[in-house]
Parts: sequence; structure tokens; C-alpha cells
Amino acid sequence: MGNSIFADNILEGKVAFVTGGGTGITGGVARAFAEHGAKLAITSRKVENLEPMKKTIEENGGECFAVSADVRDFSAVENAIAATVAQYGKIDIVVNGAAGNFLCAADQLSANGFGTVVDIDTKGTFNVCRAAFEELKKSKGQILNISATLHYLATPMQIHVSAAKAGVDAITRNLSVEWGRHGIRVNGIAPGPIEDTEGMKRLLPEALKEKITKKIPVGRFGRIKDIENAALFLTSDAANYINGVTLVVDGGQWLLGTSLG
Ligand code: COA
Repeated sequence: MGNSIFADNILEGKVAFVTGGGTGITGGVARAFAEHGAKLAITSRKVENLEPMKKTIEENGGECFAVSADVRDFSAVENAIAATVAQYGKIDIVVNGAAGNFLCAADQLSANGFGTVVDIDTKGTFNVCRAAFEELKKSKGQILNISATLHYLATPMQIHVSAAKAGVDAITRNLSVEWGRHGIRVNGIAPGPIEDTEGMKRLLPEALKEKITKKIPVGRFGRIKDIENAALFLTSDAANYINGVTLVVDGGQWLLGTSLG
């Protein structure tokens, strides 16, 4: 809307279910979808984390339904999907954005720390896809999984997230093949370092920002808007024949080595 490169109505009539849709990258994606005609359901563990985004979307004239669910809990996810269908009658687009992250060396990381991130990112992504399957089959809908580039090479202090996101990419490829025949497209986005996000606050000390900017081929950090645009493209009819792809949106950064330090 306004300054968007895409037509306002490219997602008109669609219903999008976005996990982690209250804040950060997936919050931006939720807002952008609403600005382009979709009705939104956003989820997070705590419903209060969703209220500001719900308000923003509604103030912009969109529709937003906020429902709490921990993606690790399959029955909570099933309930959130059912509540969304009760609200809007269908689901066309699922975005898996809920994720956990912290920096920790492998020899310091507990088994539960590793498992917690895998549970949120990988199992959570499967849980949401699985719970939404029947609705997506009806709508011939689609899935967009938010991944990362950390695991393309090796990223110290990120073994848990690297393993988790490698699993997410496997889910994207597998489901694109298994569910493509039902008319469901399954794609992913692998963002590079994106400014003004929780991930960046957790992973990148402010003092290193300038040094790292020099390691990004296009000479700047990513912006949430960059991911919004990729998400709008992949979920629009312009990408009707794109299935099983994880689109890297990182200014070419991973090609020079993923380690940010
Ligand atoms: N370093 C090392 N281990 C850590 C850690 C850190 N910074 N933070 C959590 N852990 C470990 C805990 O010690 C625990 O393991 P233990 O039982 O062996 O001690 C395990 O991870 C689970 O921690 P807990 O706090 O109980 O998990 P949670 O489910 O409440 O929180 C997290 C999930 C850990 C991912 C938490 O960081 C979180 O909620 N983050 C918010 C979302 C986020 O990270 N967004 C950024 C996306 S890029």
C-alpha cells in the first residue's frame, strides 16, 4: 500500500496464518500481507505480544485475529488453526516464522538447549504444516517457511539453529513434493542479517555492525521490507510455478562466508 512495489490487491480474499506474526520479520510479513488484501491470523506464545501488531493492522484498515499457541504443542496449534477457520472460514497461506535463538558454543550448549530450538523451529514448522494440511488442501493454498543461511557453511555458536533450519529446509523440499500434487506450494525464505530484529539484537553486538556491513556484497544490512517483498512475491500468483524453493534474501552475504563475527 502507498509505497509498495506490488499492487494493493495481490492477496485480496486470502487468509494468512502467520506464526511469530507479532514482531520482527514475520510481523512485517503479516502487516505487508494485510496491506495487500489478506485477512490475518497471527500467533505467538503470548497473546499480549500480538496486540500491537493486531492494532497496527486494524488501524491500517485490515483484519487481524490474534491467537496464542506454542508451536511445539501440536494440540495448541490444531486449536489455533481451528479458531482461524471458525473466524474466517478457510486458510490460504501459512507462514512459519516462530523461531528461537541465542548464541552458545557447542561445548557449552545443553541437550535441552539444542532440543528447545529444534523443537520450536523444526518440529514447530512441521506441526503447523501438518495441522493446516486439510485446510490448505481445500484452498489449494501454500506454505512459506522462514529459514536462514547459517547452515550453508558453518556458523560457530549456532549449531542448534543451524541444525534446526537445515531441518526446516528439508521440510520445505519434502512437502513441496508430497503436497504439490494437492495444489499446495511450499517455499521458504532464507534472510541474511536483517536490521531492527530480535535476532540481530541477540546475535550481533552493535560494535560489530560497521565491520560486518563491509562483508555484505551489496554494502548494507537487510531490512524487514526486503523480506516482506520476497514473501509477497512468493505467495502471489506471480510465483505460481515456484515450488520447493528457499529463496535467499541476503544481499549475497552467505557467499562470502556466513560467520558474522
Ligand atoms: N545460552 C545457552 N543455553 C540457553 C540460552 C542461552 N542464551 N537460553 C536458553 N538456553 C537453554 C536453557 O538453559 C535450557 O536448557 P537447560 O534446561 O539444559 O538449562 C533450554 O535452553 C531451554 O530454555 P528455556 O528458557 O526453558 O526455554 P524457553 O522455551 O522458555 O525459551 C528460547 C526458548 C530458549 C529459544 C528463548 O531464547 C526464547 O524464548 N527466545 C525468544 C524468541 C527468539 O529467540 N527470537 C529470536 C529469533 S531469531
